[in-house]
Amino acid sequence: MTGPVTPVLREMRWWDIDPVLGLERELFPDDAWSRGMFWSELAHARGPGATRRYVVAQDGDRIAGYAGLAAAGDIADVQTIAVARAYWGTGLGGRLLTELLRAATAFECAEVMLECRVDNVRAQKLYERFGFEAIGVRRGYYQPGNVDALVMRLTDPATSVQGTEIRHG
Ligand SMILES: CC(C)(COP(=O)(O)OP(=O)(O)OC[C@H]1O[C@@H](n2cnc3c(N)ncnc32)[C@H](O)[C@@H]1OP(=O)(O)O)[C@@H](O)C(=O)NCCC(=O)NCCS
Repeated sequence: MTGPVTPVLREMRWWDIDPVLGLERELFPDDAWSRGMFWSELAHARGPGATRRYVVAQDGDRIAGYAGLAAAGDIADVQTIAVARAYWGTGLGGRLLTELLRAATAFECAEVMLECRVDNVRAQKLYERFGFEAIGVRRGYYQPGNVDALVMRLTDPATSVQGTEIRHG
């Protein structure tokens, strides 16, 4: 018999915002989200009209990563995805992305969009592995620093989803 894969993926709740903010500031030092942004995203993550899906990866009492997706009609957007440095290269980014694509499928979205810094090769490799394709560039999207964003798109997320387990709570 096998136990749960660690870290365990589960829905992000408001009490996760503090540890998530700690990671957010470490991993996105130039343009970290505020506490209010996470609150406002989570406000749309429950109930019959929900348009958001946010998950955290929990390893014991520590948050090892998090990710969120927003659905608007036919199109979903990867709002954020991040993994604590100690877990990079362990496949956790892939597990989080799988859960977002599963959510996009549940929201009945035909495509999933995202923006990524042009210099973030690690993230681009992850997205390409799942079938995302670069479709354009937004000049100076990331400020300060004036860094361009690569716009990537995945069509038909349902066919890209691989097996992973999730706890709903
Ligand atoms: C991007 C991120 C979420 C990936 O998480 P992860 O747990 O390392 O993801 P995985 O282990 O599933 O996959 C990492 C991919 O990077 C590749 N990679 C590993 N080391 C790398 C390196 N030094 N340079 C470039 N790519 C590398 C791996 O090959 C792997 O791709 P593969 O499966 O095709 O081989 C994580 O690095 C992160 O949080 N970065 C900071 C925040 C961020 O940039 N978020 C994305 C914003 S668009």
